[in-house]
Amino acid sequence: MRRVARAMRAGGTENIEVGTEELGRLQAGQVLVQVAAVGLNPVETLLRRGDYVVKVPFPFVLGGEGAGTVSAVGEGVSLEVGTRVCWGAIPASCGDYLVAPAAMVTTIPERLSFDEAARVPVAAITAAGLARVWPLEGRRAVVWGAAGAVGQMLVAILARRGVGVIGIASGTRVSRVLDAGAQFAVDRGAGDVREAVMSHTGGKGVAAVYDPIGKDTYTASLGMLAPRGCLITYGEFSGAAPEIALQDLFRGSLFITKYNGVRWVEGMHEFPAMVGEGLAMAAEKPGVIGEVAGRFQLERAAEAYAMLETNPNGKVLVAP
Ligand SMILES: NC(=O)c1ccc[n+]([C@@H]2O[C@H](COP(=O)([O-])OP(=O)(O)OC[C@H]3O[C@@H](n4cnc5c(N)ncnc54)[C@H](OP(=O)(O)O)[C@@H]3O)[C@@H](O)[C@H]2O)c1
Repeated sequence: MRRVARAMRAGGTENIEVGTEELGRLQAGQVLVQVAAVGLNPVETLLRRGDYVVKVPFPFVLGGEGAGTVSAVGEGVSLEVGTRVCWGAIPASCGDYLVAPAAMVTTIPERLSFDEAARVPVAAITAAGLARVWPLEGRRAVVWGAAGAVGQMLVAILARRGVGVIGIASGTRVSRVLDAGAQFAVDRGAGDVREAVMSHTGGKGVAAVYDPIGKDTYTASLGMLAPRGCLITYGEFSGAAPEIALQDLFRGSLFITKYNGVRWVEGMHEFPAMVGEGLAMAAEKPGVIGEVAGRFQLERAAEAYAMLETNPNGKVLVAP
């Protein structure tokens, strides 16, 4: 048996309940993990409210990424009991134990704690996929939310590939953007962001803008693009972006894409390597992992998800 946090029906966090469920027998190729920390992601709020483009039948166990210790292995698994591992994109992770395919977990480097490793997988998978979307080597790109979980990882990956990154954050968080490897950081609270980006690019604009914010930033994002540049939207942090008006793309003959991670990987077998790259960067440069906004025991999972809805600065963790 394991203890889990479940969304019982569509709606607010009052619909989250903690209960018990059967774990099932460990199959060949699987590992049993004692979960130390679960990272919460904004998409879980959308899924639980039932108003996301992807629908999940209720009730369902929450959680999609985490870190813990292998406590038993199925037939044919070479990982040893006691190995510290983390994972992303494994649904129903929000519990004290998890049965996972051994091929989907990645060993945590010694230098990283469980809390640190639990913040990496989804950010690393998303950032690695996003970095495939538009050819950018030697060019410039803007990253919104650059001090956020995905943002920091994306800045680091792009910078490593020779992209001149202009990262946008607020207040003192701009220092995190520079720590992650951005060429310039713009404080979105200190004036017109578009003007700041244009001045950093000699008025030319950038080849790509990565925008997870949506409604609040859509117009500014289009305005920062150089001719034939691409707006890559991958989230709705402030609400859905408006309908596209094709005439808005005419000035620069611009491109827009709505990122769907599934279309940018060959399959889930790619995830562990993507997570491994993220962990290696995080072990090398502490600036690549976001802050912790809150840490809750499993019994208080509903409070953790309520905190996630306030868009806190940093990751919310559930620590069973
Ligand atoms: N499509 C995918 O596969 C995928 C995967 C993972 C995440 N996402 C999406 O990516 C987004 C970010 O996720 P995350 O985990 O990185 O969140 P996060 O760590 O909370 O980062 C988001 C950051 O955005 C900034 N922000 C908030 N409101 C803003 C606004 N109105 N204008 C400009 N910036 C604002 C904040 O930083 P500052 O205050 O410092 O600017 C905040 O820290 C979410 O929308 C999520 O759904 C998509």
